[in-house]
Amino acid sequence: MISQRNDARHWWRDAVIYQVYVRSFLDSTGDGIGDLAGVRAGLPYLKKLGVDGIWLSPFYPSPQHDHGYDVADYRDVDPVFGDLGEFDLLVAAARRLGIRVLLDIVPNHCSSEHPSFREALAAPPGSAARARFHFADGRGPDGSEPPNNWHAMFGGPAWSRVTEADGSPGQWYLHMFTPEQPDWNWRNPEVPAYFDQVLRFWLDRGVDGFRIDVAAGLFKHPGLPDSPDPEADARTRDSVNPLAWNQPEVHDVWRHWRAVCEEYTARDGRERLLVGEVSVPTAREHARYVRPDELHQAFFFDLLSAPWDVDAFRKVISEAIQDIAGTGSTVTWVLNNHDQVRTVTRYGEPAPEGSGLGAARARAAALLMLALPGAAYIYQGEELGLPEVVDLPDDVLTDPIFRRTGSRARIRDGCRVPLPWSGQASPFGFTQEAADVKPWLPQPEWFAEHATDRALADTRSFWHLYRDGLQLRASLPQLGDGTLRWLDTPPGILAFSRGDGLVCAVNFGTAPTPAPVAGEPLLTSGPCPPGVLAGSTAAWWITDGTHD
Ligand code: NOJ
Repeated sequence: MISQRNDARHWWRDAVIYQVYVRSFLDSTGDGIGDLAGVRAGLPYLKKLGVDGIWLSPFYPSPQHDHGYDVADYRDVDPVFGDLGEFDLLVAAARRLGIRVLLDIVPNHCSSEHPSFREALAAPPGSAARARFHFADGRGPDGSEPPNNWHAMFGGPAWSRVTEADGSPGQWYLHMFTPEQPDWNWRNPEVPAYFDQVLRFWLDRGVDGFRIDVAAGLFKHPGLPDSPDPEADARTRDSVNPLAWNQPEVHDVWRHWRAVCEEYTARDGRERLLVGEVSVPTAREHARYVRPDELHQAFFFDLLSAPWDVDAFRKVISEAIQDIAGTGSTVTWVLNNHDQVRTVTRYGEPAPEGSGLGAARARAAALLMLALPGAAYIYQGEELGLPEVVDLPDDVLTDPIFRRTGSRARIRDGCRVPLPWSGQASPFGFTQEAADVKPWLPQPEWFAEHATDRALADTRSFWHLYRDGLQLRASLPQLGDGTLRWLDTPPGILAFSRGDGLVCAVNFGTAPTPAPVAGEPLLTSGPCPPGVLAGSTAAWWITDGTHD
């Protein structure tokens, strides 16, 4: 039996959190960009869906070079998205509905327009202002080569050269993402002290926790030595340069942040949550981030990156549970987010277009994820079965990766297209219908099929599957936190039991197979004749317990 420690229950251990990509959720002002008032207006919809909380993508003042992951002011709201008053209204409305609110905090880097970075640019080499970032002299006789050979995640060198106050070519600064996102120097005590204030600012405003961007970043290897494989990060688009990421000192930061959260919990009993975006090479390494005094959760991305293959799924699920169980945390499952091709499209390839295979598999994966022990994150539009918009014209793409890779990598715009809410034509209720108003990314005509009004009216929709799954998850003690036991199954079938008699099975093949459990299923991801588990389908059953 693979089991997770069944600690005292904490809400986050098996919470289902909905990721709101604010600029694409709902626009209340008619500028074609979603905003906080739009999120507030959408809360009843999310309540109906049954999520426990929302994670808001960055809405802070930002020049938006990386859609808000370039923060110019960590303690305010960008006017495009509203203001602090609107933020407070959103938190209050969510609290009334019992929906928790997580913010996205970006501690690895800021915007090149952040006042501290501007001050550093204006200050001389060796100054206290520059010491908050990674400024260094260049190599070569005239300093015209970067201080080391690292490449940025989004392509190109990880260093940019500045012009000094006297107009001469000057030092270089480090940016592991775009040049507009200088990395903070966490070895400088002013930086952790500053983020302390940021955390407290939002905790004082009532938030329930934070999603932490690039949580395996922050510290770089002392001395910033050359990397043996400098292009590894850009090539894999994973943070694998062992000198730039996952340094041991980062764990002290998470211990401190955890203590700050607990301080707030001690005041009012409300448990705050830290969930890290932790990209590290192994599940074991990942587990180090969720030790009892560090982050509560860390997204487990291996499920998201697994191909649609029964053995791959079984392996990543087993490893995650095994390695994370020992920490006292639970696994944090995720299938979609704002950086990834949506499951319907990902699992559909290379199936012929229109075969419906990607959608069937995405539905099955959803039921699988919701049956696994631990917490789950849903990315907006996932509950509508939105496919990726793969044919956006080049001139509308805004993802810096596209620009930084010389237009080679079209990765992240297609999953960020504004949501369709109603009607037959763009803007599908996302923003006002007016000749001069356009959603910030164009919505294809076929979004009509996925609009929420249609989804809610059709009991066979993705929406109903997610809603039913969430309702059952909330009411059945077997689901959520707890244990998992694999069941013996024929090739191509994955099945496990949860607690006292709940079985989840997934048919990874395309041909129907006899159902591994007798009796009528509680929920299926697609139509199944009696006694059969259809191809590319998942189902849940309550059994008499003989499978435990
Ligand atoms: C991870 C975020 O999810 C992504 O959208 C962002 O571009 C990078 N971190 C850099 O902040």
